Amino acid sequence: MQKTNNKYSAEITAVGMYVPEKIMDNKYFETIVDTNDEWIVTRTGIRERRKMEFGATSDMAVKAAEDLFKTTQVKPEDIEVIIVATVTPDMFFPATACLVQERIGAVNAWGFDLSAACSGFLFALQTGASLVQSGAYKNCLVIGADKMSSIVDYTDRNTCLLFGDAGSAVLLERTENPDLGVKDSLLHVDGSGKESLYMKGGGSLNPASYETVDNKMHYVYQDGKAVFKVAVKGMADISAEIMEKNNLKSEDVAYLVPHQANMRIIDATGKRMGLPPEKVMVNIDRYGNTTAATIPLCLTEYYRDGKIKKGDKLILSAFGAGYTWGAIYLVWSMD
Ligand code: COA
Repeated sequence: MQKTNNKYSAEITAVGMYVPEKIMDNKYFETIVDTNDEWIVTRTGIRERRKMEFGATSDMAVKAAEDLFKTTQVKPEDIEVIIVATVTPDMFFPATACLVQERIGAVNAWGFDLSAACSGFLFALQTGASLVQSGAYKNCLVIGADKMSSIVDYTDRNTCLLFGDAGSAVLLERTENPDLGVKDSLLHVDGSGKESLYMKGGGSLNPASYETVDNKMHYVYQDGKAVFKVAVKGMADISAEIMEKNNLKSEDVAYLVPHQANMRIIDATGKRMGLPPEKVMVNIDRYGNTTAATIPLCLTEYYRDGKIKKGDKLILSAFGAGYTWGAIYLVWSMD
């Protein structure tokens, strides 16, 4: 991002989350595919993940937003923009943002869905921040929500145990304090990675047919090894680059807030930034990879546990399908 000279900053003033009650632990996966707890924990860091048994992505997004509204004076009718980052929208159209808008009663909002897979929350946060920093809008509700269980093949051991369902939300509000909020971002796409991680069927290229269903084209396909290599480098490089660009030393950074895809990728990124493990947010062990929800879920849990304080400098970073990747530098605003 080119640094702007906006009069306004966009700060996070509230957070919220929702995870479904049903837990799928590693032992459960031992009963449905050829795997074992030891392999899953050492190769991924995941111990359990959640599954939404009834309902859709919008239901988790709404519950996360309702959780957020319990903690702020801002009311649904005050919301001006809603962005929902997701790769599992309830339907192709209308946008999940419209469904959320109606359900929460955000009668004065406009909004849209944003598709950037595991980088979705970062792309949405930067988009929302730009709308607020420009002065055009006072606030923006940014939601990351994915019902990954709706597109995962539970007979494919390469993918099924990696993903979980969740929704999480942050409220961005305008402030004139230049020291708080979203300070900088570095975001990228590279379509040459499109066949390493994708869902082949259901779109205009391969519309749903008996054949696409028989060929399991409506499920996540991932070349894990190929993605792992680029994800480690992509997330570590971009996180180091945004620190350097903003003259941040490792001791200046309160936390790395990484996308939770694989503990080994998270560790490599933290190491590259010179951060000790206690400065790296982790909840992959309990939720797995919840795609667009991982980063706001970490922010919500760590904030509610009293681990983040006003003025803390955070580096958010992610890598995902597309490829998409990036990092955001933000200064936390809430006490
Ligand atoms: N249980 C047990 N063994 C398994 C297994 C499973 N679920 N899946 C694969 N294996 C086996 C493989 O068959 C292989 O055995 P072999 O050496 O005898 O052939 C071995 O374990 C290693 O497999 P590999 O695919 O090389 O594992 P990995 O170390 O690359 O880990 C992932 C697999 C998917 C966990 C890892 O590649 C990954 O996290 N990739 C990136 C994910 C990501 O960041 N995505 C982007 C954001 S969504």
